[in-house]
Formats: sequence, C-alpha cells, structure tokens
Amino acid sequence: MNIVFRKCKKCGNVIWSFNDTNVSCCNEEMSIIKSNEVDASFEKHVPQYDINDNKITIRVNHVMEDNHYIMWIMMVTDNEIYYKGFEPGQTPEVTFDYKGKCTLYSYCNLHSLWSNKVE
Ligand SMILES: [Fe+2]
Repeated sequence: MNIVFRKCKKCGNVIWSFNDTNVSCCNEEMSIIKSNEVDASFEKHVPQYDINDNKITIRVNHVMEDNHYIMWIMMVTDNEIYYKGFEPGQTPEVTFDYKGKCTLYSYCNLHSLWSNKVE
C-alpha cells in the first residue's frame, strides 16, 4: 500500500497516512517527506534484510548514539504495517513474519527517511 510520511516543521513529529489530505501539527501544515533524498550515507541508513524460514530480519547499519540514532523501522505490505521503535543504545534490528513483497523504511533522527523494496 502507498503511505505518505509527513514531518512537522516546528516540533519534528513524523506521522504517516494513506492519502494526501492536509494534516497539521503545531498549527502548521506538515511537510511531506520522501525516502532516500537526504545527502547522507546510503549504506548507513537504508534498511537491509535477510529472509529465512518465512521470517524477515531487518537491520540498519547505523550508530545508536544519544543525539544520532535510528528511531524506527517499518515494514509495509499490500495491506499491513509492522513497526518497531528504538532508543539510543539499542540495536536497530527487528524480525517480522515475512509476508512477501513489501517496502522497508527506516527513520534517522538527523537524516530522515530511508527505504528499500523487497520484491
Ligand atoms: Fe543518520
């Protein structure tokens, strides 16, 4: 499914929705954010994956420091969304049941949204 990510220009809150309806936060319209568009290391942000025994393990090769870390990983299939949030110091890795074709997303607090398609 197609989902749209938005970020608040004031507080930095990130949300997702299914459509392009205007959404506001802090009394302002939110900016739409696209994946893989920030000038930062692709290898350190794009979610990587392995599929074994109908499980998909998703990881991001990124530091998890207090001021620079992966905030969440998301797996979006045709009709389901799986999400795991992370704190600094944790390992940005998660295993879900593998559901076939999907898009993987990761979100860095400094370098925004990244994605990888699983065909
Ligand atoms: Fe980063």
